[in-house]
Amino acid sequence: MEANSGKSTTNASSLRWKILRRNLIRRSSSNSEDKFEMGIQRISRKATHGFNLIPFHLMKDCVEENVNPMDSSRNATLCYTLPVTNASQLILHQRADDMAHLNDFEFCNRYDIDNTGLVCQWPSEDVLAHYCLSHASIFRGKRVIELGSGYGLAGLIVAMTTEAQDVFISDGNPQVVDYIQRNVNANSGSFGGTEVKPLMLHWGQEKDTDIANTVDVVIASDCTFFKEFHGALIRTIKSLLKEEGPSEAILFSPRRGNSLDKFLGEVKDSGLHFSTDEMYDAEVWRRHQGFVEGDDSWPNYEMDHCYPLLVRITR
Ligand SMILES: C[S@@+](CC[C@H](N)C(=O)[O-])C[C@H]1O[C@@H](n2cnc3c(N)ncnc32)[C@H](O)[C@@H]1O
Repeated sequence: MEANSGKSTTNASSLRWKILRRNLIRRSSSNSEDKFEMGIQRISRKATHGFNLIPFHLMKDCVEENVNPMDSSRNATLCYTLPVTNASQLILHQRADDMAHLNDFEFCNRYDIDNTGLVCQWPSEDVLAHYCLSHASIFRGKRVIELGSGYGLAGLIVAMTTEAQDVFISDGNPQVVDYIQRNVNANSGSFGGTEVKPLMLHWGQEKDTDIANTVDVVIASDCTFFKEFHGALIRTIKSLLKEEGPSEAILFSPRRGNSLDKFLGEVKDSGLHFSTDEMYDAEVWRRHQGFVEGDDSWPNYEMDHCYPLLVRITR
């Protein structure tokens, strides 16, 4: 990909192959037939902690149409209750915890992408979704795109609750886009007049999209982790935002060492403007303080890696 230096591409791909190799070795040394059969292994996992701002429950025995039973067994279906009068429940299909497949790494290498969108839904997505719910007027009548959506919770919430004109829910990993499509299908009766489209969009390769220079609001959560994609992500945001009239990007990301600062430095170098905010929501801040003070529902919580800052970017 044009945004990568050769070195970072090599590092990313050798990391993926290390994980793949580990999976293969474990698989071939196992006598257990079911382990062999599935090729599914535990790999790096983020624990399922989070801010839990939007209530949900796991739907047991949910059978998804047109999904083969093998794939079904790797999935979990969540049902969110949105805190909005008359809102439908939101259905979200995702990978069950600790389920990875050898195919994941083949896709990663083929498409020069990571598998973080399949690993889990990250805590920042919940915060972004909560922020969108609390600021519905930003989106009303607007063209919106979520970048690096993962399973697409925030994009779906914008589509279901804000009367946006159209919402694109995008990712650069085709397996993730497949989940987005399934989640759009699962909620298709709840979008009112809003057009909702899943989209394969790999940052830096957006020349092919016909929505450049038409987007009012870009949203994204936890997409600044991989430094090698900072430049491409910024170019994508810049190309999507409207040149004429108001438009902005709303991002939530933990600081993660110098990662966010480096991203913001590149935003500035690109000629875009940005602001950051730490205390953007009283409830999120209250929960953050609880974790800092030892609420053990999120063990090892620390602000730098867990608390998302709000970043707003304009032309
Ligand atoms: C850390 S995950 C965050 C997913 C989701 N927003 C969340 O917070 O749960 C980063 C997401 O960005 C996507 N991604 C990574 N690099 C990308 C790229 N170059 N172009 C498009 N998407 C990318 C991944 O597939 C993944 O879904």
